[in-house]
Amino acid sequence: MDYRKKFLDFFASKGHAIIASSPLIPENDPTTLFTGSGMQPMVPYLLGQKHPMGTRIADSQKCFRSGDIEEVGDNRHTTFFEMLGNWSLGDFFKQEQIPWMWEFLTREVGLEPARLYFTCFRGNEDLKIPRDTESAELWQKLFAENGIDAKIVDFPEENGMQGGRIFYYSEKKNWWSRSGVPGNMPVGEPGGPDTEMFYDFGEQLGLHEKSEWAAEPCHVNCDCGRFVEIGNNVFMEYVKTEDGFAQLPQKNVDFGGGLERIVAARENNPDIFTTQLFTKFRESVESLSGKTYGARAEETFAFRVVMDHMRAATFLIGDGAIPSNKDQGYFTRRLIRRAVRFGHKLGITENFADSVSRAVIAAYETAYPELKAKEEQIVADFVKEEQKFRVTLDKGLKVFEKQLEEVSSDTSKMNGQWLFDFYQNFGFPFELIVEELKGRGIAMSNELIAKMFADFSEVFEAHKNLSRAGAEQKFKGGLGDTSDISVRYHTATHLLHATLKKVLGDHVQQKGSNITTERMRFDFSHPDKMTPEQIKQTEDLINAAIARDYPVACEEMSVDGARAKNAIGLFGDKYGDLVKVYTVGDPNEIASADPTAPTYSREICGGPHVEHTGQIGTFKIVKEEAVSAGVRRIKAIIE
Ligand code: ALA
Repeated sequence: MDYRKKFLDFFASKGHAIIASSPLIPENDPTTLFTGSGMQPMVPYLLGQKHPMGTRIADSQKCFRSGDIEEVGDNRHTTFFEMLGNWSLGDFFKQEQIPWMWEFLTREVGLEPARLYFTCFRGNEDLKIPRDTESAELWQKLFAENGIDAKIVDFPEENGMQGGRIFYYSEKKNWWSRSGVPGNMPVGEPGGPDTEMFYDFGEQLGLHEKSEWAAEPCHVNCDCGRFVEIGNNVFMEYVKTEDGFAQLPQKNVDFGGGLERIVAARENNPDIFTTQLFTKFRESVESLSGKTYGARAEETFAFRVVMDHMRAATFLIGDGAIPSNKDQGYFTRRLIRRAVRFGHKLGITENFADSVSRAVIAAYETAYPELKAKEEQIVADFVKEEQKFRVTLDKGLKVFEKQLEEVSSDTSKMNGQWLFDFYQNFGFPFELIVEELKGRGIAMSNELIAKMFADFSEVFEAHKNLSRAGAEQKFKGGLGDTSDISVRYHTATHLLHATLKKVLGDHVQQKGSNITTERMRFDFSHPDKMTPEQIKQTEDLINAAIARDYPVACEEMSVDGARAKNAIGLFGDKYGDLVKVYTVGDPNEIASADPTAPTYSREICGGPHVEHTGQIGTFKIVKEEAVSAGVRRIKAIIE
């Protein structure tokens, strides 16, 4: 069944003009390298310019999100995806769009209403943007017409679902603009509250219990995978001004929904890589490798990387991003080389670009005829890049293994010249080297990666005239998704865990933790409310540890070794045989021959962390409260 076509036919029946996808490389937008949402090419029309096709438009837009390259590997992230979109350019609004979406999802796609959940904007007084009760009530009425009594609830992120079906979230979740939350929007950018649609794969899969969020209440925006967002209706009626927001001259609707996820919901299959959209080229990778998708976890990861990257690179070359050292072409190069590397892990040592890219083109030729029209050129560019890398891959891996011990024991050896030589001689993109190092358990702090990147781009620039600005944009994804602030919060979390044991006693066990760019949250076992004195003592001890600027050291050891050193943290098998142990404290104590010598904190963890506690800032507890019987929660900030 072709759900892309169903979507377009459905909106054509509601008076929409169907337009072709814009290319992945924006035509008139120098601010961005790739088209990452259907709305991007529509900005001028959302701001009021007349669209030649009228006020109701629908399409299926090719999208590429370079920042997601390293997210690929789970059951639902891809770098390339198709975004189904429909727009009202100052025409209809919530009263039409919401019932249409309901009709599309339940009748055309055939999703059961009982599996659907919706979120709406909570409202924000500071922004002077009201709560979107209109959308919430429209969804509620549609549920009622289908015999479902849908409760509207607030604060699900704190209190869980509370039996609700429609939820209010803040602007962090239910606001959309190209630049994200209101605070990030430049003056003149359009945006607005949104209402998102979620499909429930069901509690019975136990996805939440198996996830790292198990200790926290599950809710529709929780990342455990039980709920998947299948679409987003943005009610784009505001424009950012110098001192807040003004109404746009017209009220717009911008709907975007990932085709892959809608199909996954339709098939009630949380793994998009086994949906009908991927069948052809999954089979192609299976026959080349002689392996079956899904048979072994680490192979499944490699399969997904290969499938995603081959598909994305096929589309990118089709839109003119030929593999190269520069701009968009660098991403195509990186994707192909990473796909070859992961294909190698699956045992594919022969050229595979030809058959897999042809399988991708065959799967998409009806929807995107430009692929078929350029098939021979796409395949030729693809094969050329693959061959270039294959010639040096084996040799590069051997040299890498040989040098590994030397460079990892002295990180100054991973300098710009070393990295550049690797790229030059063996074709390993910077990010791939970092990934290979990480894959062998080498501790790679964000600071170290940033430094390596700066050194590398300096040498690279000298050789290739690569502009620093361009390089930074390109390599951003490679620096991992942990921003500085979350790394600081992460180390502060270790200090808090250790300090609570000192202040309250050894019974304190971590029950959950969560970090955003604004705060940290830490749940732990303790029977009583903390007294103001205990809270102050905790803050003072942590701030003293920060003031002493303790180094944060990372070592790899067996689980038994970690136990012998009194490391705290999770000892579950999910970490494998070797674990990383982060120690914070006086260097003399850390170096002590006595493995159980007291240190400030010693904890099993994957990192990353700051290098010195002085980088954290000032620690402050803003709230201490109960979560459930015997479990307390601290919210803290660093300033
Ligand atoms: N533009 C909206 C999004 O990308 C629909 O989520």
